[in-house]
Amino acid sequence: MAASPPVPVVTIDGPSGSGKGTVSRELARHVGWHLLDSGALYRLVALSGVRAGLRPDDVAAHTALARTMAVQFDDDGRGGERIRLDGAEVTRELRSEAAGQGASRVAAWPPVRAALLERQRAFAEPPGLVADGRDMGTVVFPEAALKIYLTASAEERALRRYKQLKEKGSDANLAALSREIAERDQRDSTRAVAPLRPAPDARIVDSTGMSVAEVVDVVLSAGRAQGLWG
Ligand code: DC
Repeated sequence: MAASPPVPVVTIDGPSGSGKGTVSRELARHVGWHLLDSGALYRLVALSGVRAGLRPDDVAAHTALARTMAVQFDDDGRGGERIRLDGAEVTRELRSEAAGQGASRVAAWPPVRAALLERQRAFAEPPGLVADGRDMGTVVFPEAALKIYLTASAEERALRRYKQLKEKGSDANLAALSREIAERDQRDSTRAVAPLRPAPDARIVDSTGMSVAEVVDVVLSAGRAQGLWG
């Protein structure tokens, strides 16, 4: 049997609040490709740990959960995702800042990252994949056809998160969010394994002052120039 051709992958990496989640979702919908929200997987590991009553520093038990937890991503029919963990819907809980902090903590552990590697690669199915995260272009999909590193000023990122949380009806405090984003940036970019940084062949897009539609257009043009879509 002939080997099937590799599935094209576009990676969108960047720090918290850079807009990569929204941009990735819009892009995937626009071109009809699958979406990998890799941050959600790290959030799910942290949440599974809390639900299982694990000690927050128990690396081995969190690693086992990273391998075995049952996760399901569906379209919520309103332009977002619906995420289930072991059958129960956790979408909203997963978006909380507490889940983000937990994710950033477990994401610094090499065995957890290793346990999630093949799970993430399995998302690459025809006709293509848009992969959103921190190390999509550097570690998980180093052969990706197009790599984007999306960033924005720290102030703008905190403000975007603030608006996002408010829109979802959650409590939010701008000063606290700015502090948490700075802490998370620091932890994600200084960890020993797969730190947040652009792949050498990534195209850096600073989205400060740009709308989601403008950023999606930049990525669409870049992909078109490479013949990834029409
Ligand atoms: O993108 P997000 O906010 O949902 O990610 C939550 C945390 O997970 C983030 O602080 C760092 C970690 N993460 C990671 O280490 N590697 C990824 N590919 C995605 C997320």
